[in-house]
Amino acid sequence: MHILITAGPTREPLDPVRFISNRSTGKMGFALAKVAAEAGHVVTLIAGPVTLETPARVRRIDVETAGQMLEAVQREMQACDVFISCAAVADWRPAVCSVTKLKKSEMPGVLQLVRNLDILETVRPLKGHRCFVGFAAETGNPEQEGMRKLRDKGLDWLVANDVTEPGAGFAVDTNRVILFSSDGREERLPLLPKVEVARRILACVQTSFTSAGMV
Ligand code: PMT
Repeated sequence: MHILITAGPTREPLDPVRFISNRSTGKMGFALAKVAAEAGHVVTLIAGPVTLETPARVRRIDVETAGQMLEAVQREMQACDVFISCAAVADWRPAVCSVTKLKKSEMPGVLQLVRNLDILETVRPLKGHRCFVGFAAETGNPEQEGMRKLRDKGLDWLVANDVTEPGAGFAVDTNRVILFSSDGREERLPLLPKVEVARRILACVQTSFTSAGMV
């Protein structure tokens, strides 16, 4: 299979030195890329700004903003069989980005923001036979929000994690996730190293792919 994965945060600049971002380190997405490449899949990894090394045999495309990540996903979509959207894409960006550093006196007291496009929703018309996997980063009630995002985003699989739980979510080497599928399957995994979580996610994806007759 050819697997397209997004990982890490995006950065939305306010000026050349300041930005809005989030706490994603890319560890979960890079674990998926590593495990998928080790399993013999062709892997394209679109990475936001992170400090991780590219796993062996993975083709990596670096981006910074949500807009750049969307463009890269649109460009790479045609060639892939599976799209895993693990990146923590910023939902908002500053309405104006100054080309020079804003002086303290020029900083607005209230920051005006505009919505970024949702990448998964934007590329949904390109889905066709492809398997789409999304993540849900929640701060409580991952079941309800996970199921909602699975439906609303038209996904085959949704991986929900509660990022307030010790050992799960951002920046750590472990994660605890619940997988929901569009055909009603649900798999609750215990706290595991992110590479093992990645293996389980890929095994689920493989079952969907095989049952759809696309080996
Ligand atoms: O990178 P780590 O430090 O290892 O942390 C891992 C993680 C917590 C980032 C990861 O496990 C995770 O939960 N990733 C998804 C983070 C997220 O943005 O969740 P969300 O619930 O806000 O978004 C839901 C889905 O929509 C995600 O698949 C996201 O990639 C996608 N999305 C979100 C916003 C947007 N503008 N476009 C999108 O496609």
